[in-house]
Amino acid sequence: MRVLVVGGGAREDALSWRLRASPSCDAIFAAPGNAGTASRGENWSIGATDGKSLAARCAAEGIDLVVLGPEAAVAAGVGDRIRDAGVAVFGPNRSAGRLESSKVFAKRFMERHGVPTARAIVVHSLEGALKALEEWRGAVVVKADGLAAGKGVVVAEDVTEASALLRTWYGQNRIPGGGSDVVLEERLVGRELSLFALADGRAMMPFGSACDYKRAGDGDTGPNTGGMGAYSPPGDFPESLEDVVRERVLAPVLRGLLAEGEAYIGVLYCGLMWTASGPYVIEFNARFGDPETQVLMPRIAGDFALLLKSVADGAMDLSLATILPRHCVGIVLATSDYPRSNTPLAGLTRDLSLGAGCQIFWGGSELVDGKVSSGGGRVLTLTALGEHLEEARARAYDAVKALGGRLGTTDLTYRTDIALV
Ligand code: AMP
Ligand code: GLY
Repeated sequence: MRVLVVGGGAREDALSWRLRASPSCDAIFAAPGNAGTASRGENWSIGATDGKSLAARCAAEGIDLVVLGPEAAVAAGVGDRIRDAGVAVFGPNRSAGRLESSKVFAKRFMERHGVPTARAIVVHSLEGALKALEEWRGAVVVKADGLAAGKGVVVAEDVTEASALLRTWYGQNRIPGGGSDVVLEERLVGRELSLFALADGRAMMPFGSACDYKRAGDGDTGPNTGGMGAYSPPGDFPESLEDVVRERVLAPVLRGLLAEGEAYIGVLYCGLMWTASGPYVIEFNARFGDPETQVLMPRIAGDFALLLKSVADGAMDLSLATILPRHCVGIVLATSDYPRSNTPLAGLTRDLSLGAGCQIFWGGSELVDGKVSSGGGRVLTLTALGEHLEEARARAYDAVKALGGRLGTTDLTYRTDIALV
């Protein structure tokens, strides 16, 4: 198969790496790709949201399978365009992708179909928001409706903090994602995990899970980010985790999608809070997580490309690939101004030899004269496998420390408490 990965972050580098290693994959392409995917196959200089150009090039190049990486591609209808051109796509159409692209749609969908989630109110104006908060007790989770790269959610400790935030968002026309609707919801208490479900339009099955670290600083302090590290499998959850999520979350979601005429094809990322009364959905994403993908891919054995093709064809065959009972830890190295801004960095060394079981996946970047020019932000994810979590963790941090000057810069920061459960 000739496989195209759409996107250009560390998630797409990890997907390209794993897809290329699949027996059925003859050639891998990425659009626009990055410095990492350039070493795995060929990069096309087409943006991830340019569905028209992507569809034309896929047809011309005889692409057999397209894997959509970023939410922006799903929301732009790239899946619709490429499917219309007769090419198999792993990734939902725009309409089903609203489970991620609109928090209001997702919330109402969950309410309609009895999916456990935090109680919420949708507001459309500052007045409405302040009115809703009059009766509120306790913490308020404030969520902008549209896509905001992980920066549209603030957990306010109380009504005063929430009101101040909403005044800024509405008053200064600064709602992340650019919409005008905001979801206010109660805070769930428990432990978070990300669970991936593969969906072929007819069935939905769990396929891997991970824990992600969203806050910028150690000890879960600082602002929310896209994710600063992850480990897989998650520690300390009930052994029946996947069965419980299938029954309480995936089954009603699938019923709801079918009832509403949505054929969801691809991966549904369930951001869950495991509370005293089981799993509640914090959010859905219509694609794999970043950095969760970087810690899931090294655990996969078998023909991952053929598995994703079976899903894209509406005939999911989970026997094509399996997830090994090994542990993987991933640490994101970011520029020190992330997530406030992204300062580009140039002259980074690409081909670094690391310890056994370690991998580097590059974020948004390109190769310039054999060196990596990074767009800044989350520059790379370093992952390590181990027989147990502590081993994977020690290997990952040893490798991060050894990178230091070898990378050509010491200006990157990272959390030191990833996978310390
Ligand atoms: P989201 O983009 O919806 O995943 O939200 C980002 C982060 O905010 C989540 O990963 C949680 O840590 C936190 N969060 C969102 N909603 C809630 C909630 N209802 N209760 C507690 N934490 C939440
Ligand atoms: N790691 C969170 C996300 O991909 O949305």
